[in-house]
Amino acid sequence: MDDLEIPLVGAPMAGGPSTPQLAAAVSNTGGLGMLAAGYLNADQLAEQVKQIRELTDQPFGVNLFCPADPNDNPANAEALLQDYRLALAPLGREYGLDILNDEIVLPDHFHSLLDWLLANPVPVVTFTFGCPSAEQIERLQAVSTYVGVTVTNPQDAALAAQASVDFLCVQGPDAGGHQSTFRVQDEVNQLPLSQLVPDVQAVTNLPLIAGGGVGSNQDVRSLLALGVEAVQVGTLLLLSDEAGTSQAHRDALQSGIAETQLTRAFTGRPARAIVNDFVTEFDALAPAVYPQMHYLTAPLRAKAKEAEAWQRVNAWAGARFSQTQTDPTAKIISTLFGT
Ligand SMILES: Cc1cc2nc3c(=O)[nH]c(=O)nc-3n(C[C@H](O)[C@H](O)[C@H](O)COP(=O)(O)O)c2cc1C
Repeated sequence: MDDLEIPLVGAPMAGGPSTPQLAAAVSNTGGLGMLAAGYLNADQLAEQVKQIRELTDQPFGVNLFCPADPNDNPANAEALLQDYRLALAPLGREYGLDILNDEIVLPDHFHSLLDWLLANPVPVVTFTFGCPSAEQIERLQAVSTYVGVTVTNPQDAALAAQASVDFLCVQGPDAGGHQSTFRVQDEVNQLPLSQLVPDVQAVTNLPLIAGGGVGSNQDVRSLLALGVEAVQVGTLLLLSDEAGTSQAHRDALQSGIAETQLTRAFTGRPARAIVNDFVTEFDALAPAVYPQMHYLTAPLRAKAKEAEAWQRVNAWAGARFSQTQTDPTAKIISTLFGT
């Protein structure tokens, strides 16, 4: 990390915004571009890595979601999901969906993605929603991959350090998208990033990347002054030319709504989103059941996205999203880093 020309990591952003073009654009500015593989299968990952290699000869990384432990879900998960199905059903009917009876299919790509990355090494791999085993980390390190884990509190930082990762991504509560809590039921750590970074530094000497709610050059400088190696930026890249952000998501960011909140309404895990009609209506009803909630709401979100109905999509956004510009990635980065 300390050989990056610009101390910037372009956050992995699964679900559309991350593209090979965006990752390559970040790497070509001298930062580290990241591909989001959380929802990909191995063939899709192979294709995206191929594209990124065609667009840059600079280092880049791949982000994976650690699988949830089924024991994390409450014993009455099925009943909770049924109540949520009932609440969503009228909205589903508007789009011709049978939310009450739709089967939830849970794909399991984690091990095939990991195998692919062992056979086709990339410079950096990061993990979200948990820490892989020490053996899995060691196998990646053995193929010269630099391995990081995203943490939101000092306890999880200590666990990841014990598993011998190379670095940590420290994610503050203002971050857009999911919080990388290790357990589904964990409450979000509300400590601001400026406090969380020293708390993590107190438990480990590992190099740190810090992110969550970065909105300005001043924010970047304040974080670097805490001694982190680089700053991770997501939301500020969402409206860039290279991002694959959907029109509905772009419309939500530019809708004039100023507020974001952490909600389990879309996936069962806490994630920061723009407070649109979906969040207002369903947040209080949403159970902490993951990943079933993600796959239960996915068809509804897909239909809303297709209809460009920004009030109904998961418009992930960090707390400083009003600073987001519609520009080429290189220009956004140059404004942010004063390059
Ligand atoms: C649209 C979106 C999708 C995201 N998807 C991922 C992901 O796939 N993996 C991950 O580790 N973090 C993901 N995040 C969180 C980012 O890694 C990072 O913590 C966050 O963007 C930093 O806060 P900021 O958005 O305020 O810059 C996502 C964030 C956004 C906004």
